[in-house]
Amino acid sequence: MVEQVSKIITNLEPKAGETLAQIVEKEERKGSLKVVRKGVEKIIIPARTEEKIQAELEKFKVDGIPRYIDYASILKLFDLAKETKLPLLLKGPTGVGKTLALETVAKKYDTPLVTIAGYKEVGYSDVIGSLIPYGDFLVWKDGPLIPAMIGGAVFYFDEVVNVENEVLALLHPLTDHRRYIVIPETKEKIDAHDDFVLVASYNPGSKYSRNKLSPAFEGRFLVKLVGYPPEDVEMEILLNDDNGGEISREEAAIIVDIMNEIREGASDEVKELPGVRASVFVKKLVTQGMAMVDAFEVVLSAIVDEKEELDGLMDIVRGKVPEGD
Ligand SMILES: Nc1ncnc2c1ncn2[C@@H]1O[C@H](COP(=O)(O)OP(=O)(O)O)[C@@H](O)[C@H]1O
Ligand SMILES: [Mg+2]
Repeated sequence: MVEQVSKIITNLEPKAGETLAQIVEKEERKGSLKVVRKGVEKIIIPARTEEKIQAELEKFKVDGIPRYIDYASILKLFDLAKETKLPLLLKGPTGVGKTLALETVAKKYDTPLVTIAGYKEVGYSDVIGSLIPYGDFLVWKDGPLIPAMIGGAVFYFDEVVNVENEVLALLHPLTDHRRYIVIPETKEKIDAHDDFVLVASYNPGSKYSRNKLSPAFEGRFLVKLVGYPPEDVEMEILLNDDNGGEISREEAAIIVDIMNEIREGASDEVKELPGVRASVFVKKLVTQGMAMVDAFEVVLSAIVDEKEELDGLMDIVRGKVPEGD
């Protein structure tokens, strides 16, 4: 714990005989931390130096991504969100390129993409930060939103419906012209850098969401509804070698045809409809030499739990894959 805290307050160099209170006082004079009082408790807030913020954001640089085909015009809307300083919400099923679109803009603007994945309940401390006990003090540790705001990164709340309401309420001033948040524990007002962009996404059709997004919150965003790509676009994605090796145009067409039939006909039977990611997985297995029917079985098993349900889907697959493929 002490080591963990010392990493947060990097300049702490205890000398023999010094008390923690003395060290903290010395560091406060040097400007490497600030102490605020909250009732009887003393909270240490480590200085957010440019160097620390950059080191934190360095982990979120985007590299080596497949080519993105912008069939839903997300890229243009992102530019507008950046220009108007309004937040952006991408609404749509899983595996249709929402993350890849944001990785693409992050790369274009050479900015980090700080992502919070909300497939579980995302707590307050995962986003804003938390207090860690340290001797008689508490040390504030920023969550990932803070360096993203100060350093001007793109901050992406994936599956924002799973984020605690307590966190969403704190974000209100960040979503409008005010562009700040107040950290309740430390009472600090943190202003967003001009380049900071807030992006959220969720899958409105998901059976696994914790709750619904309030219309009042959603109304603060520029919203893009993203659906499954048109057939020719999904074909182009599969034919692109960035997504694994090569397959023939005929094979790509069969994969897309099967996926679309499942998307249109099987919405109640499956846990989640197969996205482009599922098509890309089938393609990758086929390029590794797996028979297409077997590849589909592996990929479609992710969206059903019962053998009978899988059999139903496999009937569609077998009906469309030519013998011996
Ligand atoms: N528009 C697209 N252009 C290129 N590849 C795509 C596109 N949409 C989906 N993909 C493929 O599907 C995968 C999953 O996309 P992802 O961005 O993770 O989806 P989401 O964030 O919507 O769940 C990508 O890694 C890529 O291989
Ligand atoms: Mg995603």
